[in-house]
Amino acid sequence: MTLSQAKEKLEKYGQQHLLKYYDELSEKEKEALLAQIEATDMDVLESCKHKEELVKKGEITPLKAMQLPEIQANQETFTAKGLEAIRAGKVGAVLLAGGMGTRLGSDNPKGMFNVGLTRELYIFECIINNLLDVVHQAQAWVHLFVMTSDKNHDATVKFLTEHDFFGYRADHVHFFTQEMAAATDYQGKIYLEEKGKLSTSPNGNGGWFVSMKNAGLLDMVHSQGIEWMNVFAVDNVLQRIADPCFVGATIQKNCVAGAKVVRKNAPDEKVGVICLEDGRPSIVEYYDLTEELASAKDENGDPAYYFGVILNYLFSVTELERILEKRLPLHIVEKKIPYLNEAGELVKPEAPNGYKYENLVLDMIHQMESCLPFEVEREKEFAPIKNMTGIDSVESARALLQKNGVQL
Ligand code: UTP
Repeated sequence: MTLSQAKEKLEKYGQQHLLKYYDELSEKEKEALLAQIEATDMDVLESCKHKEELVKKGEITPLKAMQLPEIQANQETFTAKGLEAIRAGKVGAVLLAGGMGTRLGSDNPKGMFNVGLTRELYIFECIINNLLDVVHQAQAWVHLFVMTSDKNHDATVKFLTEHDFFGYRADHVHFFTQEMAAATDYQGKIYLEEKGKLSTSPNGNGGWFVSMKNAGLLDMVHSQGIEWMNVFAVDNVLQRIADPCFVGATIQKNCVAGAKVVRKNAPDEKVGVICLEDGRPSIVEYYDLTEELASAKDENGDPAYYFGVILNYLFSVTELERILEKRLPLHIVEKKIPYLNEAGELVKPEAPNGYKYENLVLDMIHQMESCLPFEVEREKEFAPIKNMTGIDSVESARALLQKNGVQL
């Protein structure tokens, strides 16, 4: 893109300030900045002015979860079915590790955080240990795909390589990077993070399958015969991955997707709940859950919307390919965004100062024809680390790890 083309584009979107330092840049930096301006989708930025309208929901009705008693009664059958699929190489695992982990406040990728007390025990290590349980049970390796972003790719690869993938087979670990999106102030003006660089952040965890495709990994998925993808978050250290019982139950119920869910611990707990939206599976975010829905009861008098998702989903690869071209809704999220101030100095804000533009994996559930909500015991499988202390924190996760016999 030439300078005059860049000016034209920026003028169209009211982003001319991005060239403020252009004349101070080296030739190489100028080129890089123009390329970034060309590649940046600026159409989405307008949306922050009517962000409330973006996430309009359809008619919400309950979706029954498969609950613990039913799972326990069928444990053997489901597990056998899941193990059969794993042994046949039909199940892959996708670790979503492209997030910035801003709430935790560490500069390193979240997976590099050490949760150990008397020894080193990293988040990545916990995740791999959990997956290794299944590898041992099935006596078969599961391909592990790791999504990173431009911001944390090198550090993640280096860390995992240096630690020999914590005992995982190196030829079964595949990295890919997700796309980035511009970050703006509250008026939709893109921040600069360097004089020749727009402020960007990973574009949310919803783009994982598109990014896998862009990285050329789908050929491998096909050649290996992978039919199911278990997608999960980096920050739940009790996460059960490629869980044979979950996989088997989803297959047995003829569903094309499954979602691990936990009973909410309070009506206002900040987790998305699984439901039907206009007759299709969906997830209502906690901030969209009206009083009426939160207090609704099913025919047994139990809360009708009481199963929260824990970012552990199983998707059929055929269905993922069917929806590849479909757009996901945009979520505009308030975050802390490092930026250059008027004096051209980098500021790392203490409080949110603008928006990031993201797609979320939970919206993929609404694009599925069917989804099995599969209940798990939260004390055994849900220890998210979002913050240093308090709710969903290093502290609470440590306590849960210890409760589950993990030595810290
Ligand atoms: P979170 O929603 O907790 O976001 O991610 P985050 O960026 O990690 O943390 P905060 O909000 O800045 O504190 C849930 C999961 O989705 C992944 C994260 O790595 C985590 O596993 N994720 C999130 C991505 O892979 N890419 C993204 O763009 C965002």
